[in-house]
Amino acid sequence: MSVHKSEVKIITTHQLQNMKERGEKISMLTAYDFSMAGILDAAGVDVLLVGDSASNVMAGHETTLPITLDQMIYHASSVVRAVKRAFVVVDMPFGSYQGNSSEALRSAIRIMKESGAHGIKLEGGAEIKESVTRILSAGVPVMGHLGLTPQSIYKFGTYTVRAKEEEEAEKLLQDAQLLQDLGCFAIVLEKIPADLAQRVATQLHIPIIGIGAGPHVDGQVLVVHDMLGINKEFKPRFLRRYADLHSIMTDAVQNYVKDVKSRDFPSDKEAY
Ligand code: KIV
Repeated sequence: MSVHKSEVKIITTHQLQNMKERGEKISMLTAYDFSMAGILDAAGVDVLLVGDSASNVMAGHETTLPITLDQMIYHASSVVRAVKRAFVVVDMPFGSYQGNSSEALRSAIRIMKESGAHGIKLEGGAEIKESVTRILSAGVPVMGHLGLTPQSIYKFGTYTVRAKEEEEAEKLLQDAQLLQDLGCFAIVLEKIPADLAQRVATQLHIPIIGIGAGPHVDGQVLVVHDMLGINKEFKPRFLRRYADLHSIMTDAVQNYVKDVKSRDFPSDKEAY
């Protein structure tokens, strides 16, 4: 029997925990395909999230609700094939885990078996306790997601900052504690006040990853199309753009069209 040994080791949940303990911030970005995942992994991102935001940025839906389990597995397996170091977490899509813990376990096992990912993420707290417990009991690492939970958009009605009022903040703190007690290895906090995120990160010993949750958490996550400036329309306050790929790609494609039309491309050197 031959065993494949790669020189670079995949980051583990244990290492992510150590990063929190020694104060090293965790970097996380979304990825949905092989080519982009390879670039992000080689550039040193610690965690790649195959987010259900694929529903928006890859498929053009208005919300994350339409994406299916099969589609998430397709994206996840493409990402996993590219990765040498990053820990790959996959969002469980809407409808694959809420309300039925047996189905939740089946969905999580399908993701792990068919994509080769290293863990899953699901949205919610006390209301998904049974699903989280069952998935964890199968040995699958689970990341929680609290605050703005886009799969519940039709319940909240808006994508504005969550947990500004004391009652919702208290529920979020309790949910975060519950997810840690159940055995989740990390939690994403989306679009909540920075001081509340700091309270969660201080109170809990597992890594807390923020998106629009301020600087006092253990790591940050962004949607890769947003931070690279591929998607120009989305401009929330929490987003820092590291490139303007929309302009770069548009220029490149316009030049290509011009060269084809003018017969400049291909030249004799580019022909056989
Ligand atoms: O699906 C996604 O991209 C996410 C991030 C916003 C955390 O869940």
